[in-house]
Amino acid sequence: MSTYLLSILAVYSSTVSAWGSSQHHPPHSWDSTQLSSSCSTLPTTTALMSTTPATCSAMPTFTYTSWKYTALTTTRYATPLPSPFKLTTSYAPHFSQASTLLPSGVIYTTYSLDRSLTSLQDGTYGQGAYARMWAPLSYNTSVPFTTTVSPTPLASSELIYPPPLYTACPGSADDCVDCYKLPSNFIWGLAGSAFQIEGGLTEAGRGPSQIDMFGALPNTAGYANAEVADMNYYLYKQDIARLAAIGAPFYSFSISWTRIVPFGTVNSPINIEALKHYDDLINTCLEYGIQPIVTLSHNDAPRNVTYVDPSFPDAFLYYSKFVMTRYADRVSNWVTLNEPNIGFGLEYFAARYILLGHAKVYHWYKETLKGTGQITMKFANNLALPLDSTNPNDTVAALRYQDYILGLIGYPIFLGQNFPQSILSTTSINLTALTESELSYIKDTADYFAFDPYTAGFATSPPGGIEACAADPTNPLWPTCVLGTNVQQDGWLNGQGSFAYAYIAPQYVRQQLGFVWNVLRPKGVLIAEFGFNPYDEFTRTVVAQRYDLERTLYYQWFLRETLKSIYEDGVNVIGTLAWSFLDNDEFVSYDQQYGLQHVNRTDGKFTRSFKRSIFDFVDFFHEFVER
Ligand SMILES: *[C@@H]1O[C@H](CO)[C@@H](O)[C@H](O)[C@H]1NC(C)=O
Ligand SMILES: *[C@@H]1O[C@H](CO)[C@@H](O)[C@H](O)[C@H]1NC(C)=O
Ligand SMILES: *[C@@H]1O[C@H](CO)[C@@H](O)[C@H](O)[C@H]1NC(C)=O
Ligand SMILES: *[C@@H]1O[C@H](CO)[C@@H](O)[C@H](O)[C@H]1NC(C)=O
Ligand SMILES: *[C@@H]1O[C@H](CO)[C@@H](O)[C@H](O)[C@H]1NC(C)=O
Repeated sequence: MSTYLLSILAVYSSTVSAWGSSQHHPPHSWDSTQLSSSCSTLPTTTALMSTTPATCSAMPTFTYTSWKYTALTTTRYATPLPSPFKLTTSYAPHFSQASTLLPSGVIYTTYSLDRSLTSLQDGTYGQGAYARMWAPLSYNTSVPFTTTVSPTPLASSELIYPPPLYTACPGSADDCVDCYKLPSNFIWGLAGSAFQIEGGLTEAGRGPSQIDMFGALPNTAGYANAEVADMNYYLYKQDIARLAAIGAPFYSFSISWTRIVPFGTVNSPINIEALKHYDDLINTCLEYGIQPIVTLSHNDAPRNVTYVDPSFPDAFLYYSKFVMTRYADRVSNWVTLNEPNIGFGLEYFAARYILLGHAKVYHWYKETLKGTGQITMKFANNLALPLDSTNPNDTVAALRYQDYILGLIGYPIFLGQNFPQSILSTTSINLTALTESELSYIKDTADYFAFDPYTAGFATSPPGGIEACAADPTNPLWPTCVLGTNVQQDGWLNGQGSFAYAYIAPQYVRQQLGFVWNVLRPKGVLIAEFGFNPYDEFTRTVVAQRYDLERTLYYQWFLRETLKSIYEDGVNVIGTLAWSFLDNDEFVSYDQQYGLQHVNRTDGKFTRSFKRSIFDFVDFFHEFVER
């Protein structure tokens, strides 16, 4: 999830349901031989979808017995990860060899913000220049501490499982997934991003990034700022210890670009404090048994080098080289950019710079560094479905939405095809087709497809039709020219609402995965984020917040549909990462809570506590991942 405003994330979707059949299990007699034989082999059979309750017993008989209480609670504890994580392979040469690939003549230094400095007398990249970059940005909050906190072992009382979930009796209609297994190398764990959790924006030599402007003074919009956030920059060791104690094997985080390259630009200085910080973060993960998944930039391009800047591709490569030469020996999975496929406004030409920046890093990692890990980009995509599946205009609208959000960046990378014609032919759109040489450079620069499918919604065409809108830049719906809604044609919402745009709507998960799998044809699909923020969760007491049943149901249902997608639809889902590992700065607010952990933002210690959903999430994988 990004911190971008909700409007950017508007989703559209439909009732059309090739998968609808999975929701209704026709009566069938139970056939256990069929079940076990189907379960022993991989996918494609639909036999398992249509099993119904095994036996329906006869009417009850009513009897009296003597009364006594039954003890219902047995204490069960989370299983910590084995540690350390032993790397069986090095994913790239160690820094001692890789360092020769770095540009020479680069200044390694750090900065300390002194707002009284206003001149450039100590040079283009001196402390004065650093202070000048920060001059326009200041906040009404300041960090409560500035040193790394040593981790403390978790009290066993923190690791007690919540009351068991009600489970359907074996043999019930949905029981068809119970014999499915996920491979032992399935990627599962939790995710977060630097800006949303770290705090200390102006600490340890970090430079300003494009999203730091949210919440900066005078802040007439009332946005939250990230100057404090969750203080993860200083509490990361404890955060990692907590994830290890709960037993989550993967942690997906992002590195702050402007911590490493405070000025952002090619040949500008490298901040040694930041290099040390992330080195220790990665080593701490491994020490605790956790495998890191690293995103190079999660919506935090330098203020001076955003996606619309022609210097973006080279600046991004410059930054990435310093990160990858240092850490790539220990990192199996890299993500270049988070959700760069949304938020263009009118600046569609930025798609070219995004693609070239991504491709440069991919090629450098594979061909120059000779990295053997996996590398991809992470897409936003809440599937659009036609509102009226019998109206071809709605199908055109849904596909047009998918073109804008998925095809624009996805076709060149995964299919080697140009930007979708529906976009290029939109009147006055500021985007020109990629050249053949650009396309061949961009094609196949992702080892698998990664995306953040939170929910789905319905699309319909605007009054007057899509074509008229696409030809009229003054139309308020131009250039996408699609209307979205989460209300079905029959008047029902498509799912339980949240505190933002997402709905608990597991009925679309298989279509969502099926769309990207069948249209983009990647080798695998990583669900890099998915999550739910219950309505007004932040207003509840902590003990009530921790009992987050809606979030649990969201995850359990989403994951069960994902199992069906793998087994019944033949989609190679390689992993799922929950968003977010703790409550954070979401949509410029601390009230929009996606966390599977609560953070106390007023006790001075930013105390984290596990919500029930994190136990249930981990439990799902204990049940389904093969050991
Ligand atoms: C800072 O500004 C935000 C947004 O206006 C406000 O909600 C918050 O209470 C302020 N915080 C402090 C510590 O003044
Ligand atoms: C932004 O980049 C340009 C071009 O590299 C440079 O001239 C300018 O000084 C930079 N500005 C800041 C604030 O870093
Ligand atoms: C179109 O994109 C170019 C960059 O390719 C930019 O310089 C120009 O200002 C844009 N034009 C409009 C009308 O936005
Ligand atoms: C589809 O859109 C066109 C253009 O607005 C319109 O003429 C036509 O009636 C629409 N079809 C349906 C089935 O609504
Ligand atoms: C935070 O912790 C303080 C001190 O323990 C407690 O009084 C308060 O209720 C907690 N609030 C939240 C929202 O966690």
